[in-house]
Amino acid sequence: MSEWNGFDRSRWEMLYPQWLEQYEQYQSRHLALDMTRGKPCPEQLDLAEGMLNIVGAGDSMIAENGTDIRNYGGLDGLPEAKRLFAEMLGVRPQQVAVGGNSSLAMMHDTVFRAMQFGLCDSPVPWGKLPKVKFLCPSPGYDRHFAICELFGIEMIVVDMLADGPDMDQVERLVGEDEAIKAIWCVPRYGNPTGITYSDGVVNRLAAMKTKAGDFKVIWDDAYIVHHLTDKPEPLKNMMEACESAGHPDRVLMFCSTSKISFSGSGVAAMAASENNLRQLAESLGVQTIGPDKINQLRHVRFFGDLAGIHAHMQRHAAIIKPKFDAVLNKLESDLGGSGMAEWTTPIGGYFISLNTLDGCAREVVQRAAEVGVTLTKAGATFPYGRDPRDRNIRIAPTFPSLADVHAAMDVLCLCIKLVSVEMSR
Ligand SMILES: Cc1ncc(COP(=O)(O)O)c(C=O)c1O
Repeated sequence: MSEWNGFDRSRWEMLYPQWLEQYEQYQSRHLALDMTRGKPCPEQLDLAEGMLNIVGAGDSMIAENGTDIRNYGGLDGLPEAKRLFAEMLGVRPQQVAVGGNSSLAMMHDTVFRAMQFGLCDSPVPWGKLPKVKFLCPSPGYDRHFAICELFGIEMIVVDMLADGPDMDQVERLVGEDEAIKAIWCVPRYGNPTGITYSDGVVNRLAAMKTKAGDFKVIWDDAYIVHHLTDKPEPLKNMMEACESAGHPDRVLMFCSTSKISFSGSGVAAMAASENNLRQLAESLGVQTIGPDKINQLRHVRFFGDLAGIHAHMQRHAAIIKPKFDAVLNKLESDLGGSGMAEWTTPIGGYFISLNTLDGCAREVVQRAAEVGVTLTKAGATFPYGRDPRDRNIRIAPTFPSLADVHAAMDVLCLCIKLVSVEMSR
């Protein structure tokens, strides 16, 4: 247990019996509310329904380079799909490979290839080295950490600051340890913090000296167009920063339309230097004879261009912003100034990150589960599922209905109040 920053138990002890009574009432209400995963709600998915009829029987099945989209081929994507993703990622179309439905699968395969074969600038496959380590800014995305666990890659926690990973830590670590081969980054509206990296962080990641000559920045721009306001947070172009710093092969960028069109049937893309992509094509051509080009063309015809995607995402924001507001208003009204919790106020992405007092998160999540409110497992936002301060809780408000978000937040705030008092006794 650590310091109880400004938390004054005597102030709250009097209210505790009343809170306990409220909690006991929830026990008889048999709630079943799921706030675990960052998924779009059905109303968001409905927005892209028109896409399902856009490439149908009788429509042209020929892409602009003459490819029949129904057939094999087009290993790294249709030219018009590459152009769309290039515009989105701020890179050149020849730096893009368009894949199947999942960017996570592309990241997994990239790490697998690095372990098995090495990357374009690797002296040996990573898997042949005695040890491989990745930097994991935390709290971060649990599925990135799961990929590391799968391949036996050691994870080193780096603190997330208000403008991105703690770059003093990052520079020191990559400068002295050759086994550190990569850093996971969700640079925009991060999962779960909602933080967007500052220009300074982008510049330092691009320019820093690394002991490993084939060090990679895995740039998972999953929330690239997922703004909740009409004043989006700017993110400096990482490809250009790497090119200017003389490290054009350093960054591997990923994104997808999973939370733009359909989560199960979107299109994913990777952007990297032509060196990186040339090497990728060698093994990709063994893995597959080509991706789902019908879906790629569906997306191109439905959205048209980046402006079309932005217009579509405004419709998403209109649906999910009230849910974010409901979470933030409830946190403020119930816990503001209490010293029991702090939280982020993201202007994009899919999550709000909340810190309880040290040592309370696991118990809060457990108590909420006991009255039917399921939250992401405490610890999940840290490597190996171990939050060293046991304080981080990821709130995912997009999928439940607004009424369910309200109900779940009532329970979450109540549990935080109860557990804060109990743990401080
Ligand atoms: C940071 C991040 N990257 C990747 C993904 C998954 O992307 P995809 O659906 O393209 O595999 C998610 C989904 O929650 C995510 O939060």
